[in-house]
Amino acid sequence: MKTETIVLLKGDGIGPEIVTEAQKVLQLVSDARKEANDMEFEFKDELIGGIAIDQTGSPLPEQTLNSCLNASAVLLGAVGGPQWPRPATPENPHPPRPEQGLLDIRKKMNLFCNIRPCIFPCESLKSKSPLKEEIVKDTEFIVVRELTGGAYFGKREEENAEGVAYDTIIYSVPEVQRITRIAAQLALAHNPPYPIISIDKANVLASSRLWRRVVTETIQKEFPTVKLQHQLVDSAAMIMVKNPSALNGVLLTENMFGDILSDESSVIPGSLGLLPSASLNGWGKESNGLYEPIHGSAPEIAGQNIANPIGTILSAAMLLRYSFGLEREAKAIEKAVAKVLDDEEHGGLNVRTKELGGNATTTEIGDAIRKALADELNQLNIEDF
Ligand code: NAD
Ligand code: IPM
Ligand code: MN
Repeated sequence: MKTETIVLLKGDGIGPEIVTEAQKVLQLVSDARKEANDMEFEFKDELIGGIAIDQTGSPLPEQTLNSCLNASAVLLGAVGGPQWPRPATPENPHPPRPEQGLLDIRKKMNLFCNIRPCIFPCESLKSKSPLKEEIVKDTEFIVVRELTGGAYFGKREEENAEGVAYDTIIYSVPEVQRITRIAAQLALAHNPPYPIISIDKANVLASSRLWRRVVTETIQKEFPTVKLQHQLVDSAAMIMVKNPSALNGVLLTENMFGDILSDESSVIPGSLGLLPSASLNGWGKESNGLYEPIHGSAPEIAGQNIANPIGTILSAAMLLRYSFGLEREAKAIEKAVAKVLDDEEHGGLNVRTKELGGNATTTEIGDAIRKALADELNQLNIEDF
């Protein structure tokens, strides 16, 4: 029986509260796999972000990086908060920022592909969306965000004596080819295949013109059956709230556009706290990916046991799917989440956190999901025999 190591990077703000709930979900899956004599998980906590700066001086300590590189998968909460960066001093005019730790780990693990699905986690949230039910009900798209290029990693200069600062957006042909290939594999993995909608700003940016050319050529040459459309980012942002199902499929886009559009997409199911993500360095092989909710450290609600842990728990499901090939267990978690969130009319338990109009705490949501998951896993074990 194999022991697989999962590194937990709880980070700052609500990070520790939400990762703890997701860890307990993974522990349940581990217990079930252990019973089947297959594998078990061991968890290892490491520091990242603001807490890492305060304890070690660096937002990504060497030990954290090494543990992550050697792990089977990494689960992250969030980094950042108003207390960082710590005040500048004459000796340290640019004190370290928590967010740099996240950017560095993505780069050093070569996690160039970030998958952010926007799919309703249950039926009954469709009528509770801030947008009208008839507008959102058929929404089903997956943002594929390039994660190690663009403005986040281009040449940059902090404000100089003349009061000027800059960042640059750089993309190369191989960088666009490799993310396009993953988007195409993801499109083909769906039945019927999803179309790809590539989102750029090719009417203004040179990097977007390269992006559009390379996406078009890669799909034409390597995936001729995949349908491809292009959409400018400004109008895509408008369509996402006016008629989101017009974007159904794989939304392939560069780093910063993907960051912004994925937060926007969370309005459709009704909370930023619901959406998960997977950051991968390839497709098809079991990669040691990093999994995290798409939201941040929500400092104003940290420590109150009211944060929604579902984005993190669904990220744990993605971890099982992409890093361990445990598709049935991943689906079991997704079903358990649906059961907890749905109302009685849909056979659910109607248990939700505050920002979704409920009154359940973070730990109550976690407990309810684990109870429903235990039933799902029992079903799986019965089917095994
Ligand atoms: P945020 O995502 O932390 O919060 C935005 C809003 O959504 C807030 O109202 C917050 O309360 C709410 N929210 C977020 N997650 C929630 C959850 N799980 N349950 C309930 N409500 C939730 O964005 P922000 O306020 O702009 O940023 C706060 C800090 O987080 C900043 O330091 C930022 O750099 C950092 N950040 C980190 C990550 C990450 O670690 N991946 C992502 C985004 C932002
Ligand atoms: C995210 C976050 C990060 C990003 C920040 C905190 C570096 O907003 O994961 O979406 O911009 O990628
Ligand atoms: Mn973001």
